[in-house]
Amino acid sequence: MAKIVGSITMSHVPAIGRAIAKNLQHDPYWKPFFDGFPPVREWLRKTSPDIAVVVYNDHGLNFFLDKLPTFAVGAAPQYQNADEGWGLPTVPPFQGDQDLSWHLIESLIATEFDITTCQEMAVDHAFTLPMALLWPDQKWPVRTVPVCVNTVQFPLPSVKRCFALGQAIGDAIESWDTDARVVILGTGGLSHQLDGKRAGFINKEFDLMFMEKLVSDPLWITRYSIEDLVELTGTQGVELLNWVVARSALRGEVLRKHANYHIPISNTAAGLMVMESA
Ligand code: DHB
Ligand code: FE
Repeated sequence: MAKIVGSITMSHVPAIGRAIAKNLQHDPYWKPFFDGFPPVREWLRKTSPDIAVVVYNDHGLNFFLDKLPTFAVGAAPQYQNADEGWGLPTVPPFQGDQDLSWHLIESLIATEFDITTCQEMAVDHAFTLPMALLWPDQKWPVRTVPVCVNTVQFPLPSVKRCFALGQAIGDAIESWDTDARVVILGTGGLSHQLDGKRAGFINKEFDLMFMEKLVSDPLWITRYSIEDLVELTGTQGVELLNWVVARSALRGEVLRKHANYHIPISNTAAGLMVMESA
């Protein structure tokens, strides 16, 4: 059966793409952020996954406000990045893994997750920048399966539903009859708000509690409503739903293998965590 080697959760901010393009990794503003990544790359070398299931939210590149599925899974042979208007260089295309895509889609529908299936899909900064941080040479050594969660247009799925989605993804991968090694990425968050009166809002205390509880007591976050989370983490802080999905795909006791937290990167509290089953 396929094996889930672990989950990597991290923030995605377009400014990271600009910092990479300008080689600012050692600049004082950026160093504490980029310094979080070498241990993750080492962990990836050791665990050597073949496939990355990337749980993220699209920001208007592939879906727009007129048609926005709550949950969507990619089933394309390849996923292209495109210009989102941030002026970032685009990255090379990502190979899909259509066998895993269809296994995941069939398993999720069978467990009553009525997801949208996308046989064509453009991937935005929430997918590409985490990949570029993990594999800076951009010669992607993994095939990919995108999983999109709507965190941008209300009504959003509840934390409990996202937790259950992650469990169903974990069950599907572990029942897949191959010897593939799969890493789950969850991108977005942590606390940030880009607009309105609270633009620039960050909640370090809540973020650090979330990072701790996600490992040791993952159901803790399910006590919060989406409205609670908007209040506690900002309108875009709810992207932490993608972390919840990535975490709940892991079975049994979970260990934190690495973590970093740095504020701010642009308007965002940048979190990073590697988790694996004990
Ligand atoms: C920023 C953060 C995001 O999550 C995003 O999608 C776009 C911008 C920011 O902090 O600038
Ligand atoms: Fe975002």
